[in-house]
Amino acid sequence: MSHLALYRKYRPQKFSDFVGQKHVVEAITGAISQGTISHAYLFDGPKGTGKTSMARLLAKAINCQNRKEGESEPCNKCDSCLDINNGRAIDLLEIDAASNRGIDDIRQLREDVNFRPVKSQYKILILDESHRLTKDAVNALLKTLEEPPAHAVFILATTEVYNMLPTIVSRCQRFDFHNLSLEDIKKQLMKILKAEKVDYEPEALSLIAQGAQGSMRNAESLLDACLTLALAHEKPMLKVEEVRGLLGLIEVEKVAGLVDLMAEGKTGEAIASLNELSGQGISPTELSRSIVNYLRYVLLFQINPEFDSFEMMDLSPEEKEKMKKQGQGFTQEKLCSIIDLFLEAQRKVDYSAISLLPLELAVVRSIET
Ligand SMILES: Nc1ncnc2c1ncn2[C@@H]1O[C@H](COP(=O)(O)OP(=O)(O)OP(=O)(O)O)[C@@H](O)[C@H]1O
Ligand SMILES: [Mg+2]
Ligand SMILES: [Zn+2]
Repeated sequence: MSHLALYRKYRPQKFSDFVGQKHVVEAITGAISQGTISHAYLFDGPKGTGKTSMARLLAKAINCQNRKEGESEPCNKCDSCLDINNGRAIDLLEIDAASNRGIDDIRQLREDVNFRPVKSQYKILILDESHRLTKDAVNALLKTLEEPPAHAVFILATTEVYNMLPTIVSRCQRFDFHNLSLEDIKKQLMKILKAEKVDYEPEALSLIAQGAQGSMRNAESLLDACLTLALAHEKPMLKVEEVRGLLGLIEVEKVAGLVDLMAEGKTGEAIASLNELSGQGISPTELSRSIVNYLRYVLLFQINPEFDSFEMMDLSPEEKEKMKKQGQGFTQEKLCSIIDLFLEAQRKVDYSAISLLPLELAVVRSIET
């Protein structure tokens, strides 16, 4: 059996499947149930946050043959819904402006739009990556958006709204999609694992959610990669250690050890430890990210030992104690300047020929200053 990527398998099929983006879901479902559909929408926001999914859902709901007045959910059973779910709806045109970006493509689209829908009430055009259209194409599109046929609904999606013509943007009803919160991502991952009948260690989910950087697609792709390991156990189980290894993440304990060495002024050993971690496959990017993160917590605890936030949820009481104790070994000023040094190193690792060098310099300097 071929494997269907999780992020495709779990694409929201109803508005109630949608995670986060509450402001968008509420406004769109409200408009559908009240029958106040706009002729042009613009969905903008970061990658993997639900723009294309929402565009297809909106298309499905407004063309659903079973949906009654006052309702917003598509039925997912009628011909129209099934055609959209199976990617063969003739009244729904999806165009990727990254590869169909010229004037001829838009002219063709304008002709297509003018034909009445064949099977449904509306003809819907989803124009993905719409910031990629050429100037001529944009102007042609603008004319259509000014006087769209009554049966047409345009849905533009983009990750770069600032690169779009303001006159286009102002013709559309605009919705900003946001990065998803750690909490929302974790909730979705839990739902998927339950459906896939895989058990998990809670911290493993946190690591994946953090690695996703706000994108649900990233989270689901990372989970996909981790599932291969989880399914290899007799009783399927997602384990922290395996996730950490797969994502190339470092353990808090190791960072704590490095900070100890710096506090004790042991330059040679601190550099050796850094090189050892790098030799174990932890990238300098991850190293610098985790050091900066760790030192930030040490500082926050130094300022207020009772400090707590959602991000810290996954730290064990022992780890928190350790951070508080380490904070006592530095003056606040010293700690701030060390963080500054590592922040600078973090900026440099990605374009240094020797990517560990900026971190080595930061270690040396933080001991000497
Ligand atoms: N808000 C969300 N709720 C539930 N699942 C989501 C959400 N956002 C993204 N996903 C998951 O991620 C996948 C990709 O989402 P989608 O294609 O809608 O993102 P996008 O915003 O269009 O990204 P891109 O800018 O890269 O095109 C979906 O198939 C779904 O599995
Ligand atoms: Mg998309
Ligand atoms: Zn339907």
